[in-house]
Amino acid sequence: MTQAFTDFLAATRPTPAQRDAAIAGHRGLRERLQADPDLSGRIVATFLQGSYRRATALRPSEREPLDVDVVVVTDLSRERTTPEQALRLFRPFLQRHYPNKWATQGRSLGIELSSVDLDLVVTSAPSRADLLRVEEQATAIDEDRSPSLAELEAWRMEPLYVPNREISRWEPTHPLAQIAWTRAKNAKCNGHYVGVVRAIKWWRRIQPSLPKHPKSYPLEHLVGDCCPDGIRSVAEGLARTFEVMVTRYEPAVMVGRRPVLPNHGVPQQDVLARVPTDDFVVFIHAATQAAKRAEEALKERDPGESERRWRELLGGKFSS
Ligand SMILES: Nc1ncnc2c1ncn2[C@@H]1O[C@H](COP(=O)(O)OP(=O)(O)OP(=O)(O)O)[C@@H](O)[C@H]1O
Ligand SMILES: [Mg+2]
Repeated sequence: MTQAFTDFLAATRPTPAQRDAAIAGHRGLRERLQADPDLSGRIVATFLQGSYRRATALRPSEREPLDVDVVVVTDLSRERTTPEQALRLFRPFLQRHYPNKWATQGRSLGIELSSVDLDLVVTSAPSRADLLRVEEQATAIDEDRSPSLAELEAWRMEPLYVPNREISRWEPTHPLAQIAWTRAKNAKCNGHYVGVVRAIKWWRRIQPSLPKHPKSYPLEHLVGDCCPDGIRSVAEGLARTFEVMVTRYEPAVMVGRRPVLPNHGVPQQDVLARVPTDDFVVFIHAATQAAKRAEEALKERDPGESERRWRELLGGKFSS
């Protein structure tokens, strides 16, 4: 069974060619930013974040392209610069290098390349900008064996601030705290945590009846809250995570409510804020079925039968 899970987890990751395209995309962007006469002086550092950095990104599908989230730390002052002005500063650069390929999103600038989307998050720098310069070298947490300096200091660092154009305000964000939390959790889970996240993101993707949310980071965070420490395999992690999800949240969804999940590093932010309650309720109902199936697959002694049950839960990529 271990081999079947190893193969499944490999098949849910971006392929080497997709990762090469991602690397070429983010490197190209960062080199161009550094070489830009108007912007380079304002940029303190750029670093990777998001599921790509945390090794929780799925192999892209037609409906869910691969995206690489890149933070650009600037020396822009939140007191003297409005969110609109901060984002506008990057327009000439994007026009020059990525004509017709970029668009302003709510809190970021999206660039659509042929096989990868780049999501550029412009932020204003904290006081420990020096630590962030070293962060430039950091790659995915399963490739960088030890934490970066900024990851180690993440809990002592103040958040970064992102310009939110929709509400014309700078908002705190703490990608380094999320990265540091994920690495620590993965270690406490014997290296199986990021696999459990990818397997559950995959399960969500192949469920035809599930609503749009929770997905991406909100789903990952939910898995992080529910996955017990000390799991000895991804199989065990899946069964236990679904079980905890259901026992913890079923009482709330029975009365039509959803929980509030404080964000790592910015606890006043609710990670589920944009997840509609109705969607959350449907999601937990689906998780109830998944918990039963995962438990049966885990308990099954016949290897062929167990594999069949896991395939029922995780789809054709499992031992196909
Ligand atoms: N609701 C949220 N609460 C806290 N942080 C969030 C939230 N949504 C996004 N983020 C942060 O922004 C990053 C990029 O968001 P994105 O929507 O690309 O999700 P992701 O985790 O990278 O998953 P995906 O694999 O779908 O891209 C997240 O990894 C997370 O760090
Ligand atoms: Mg992403």
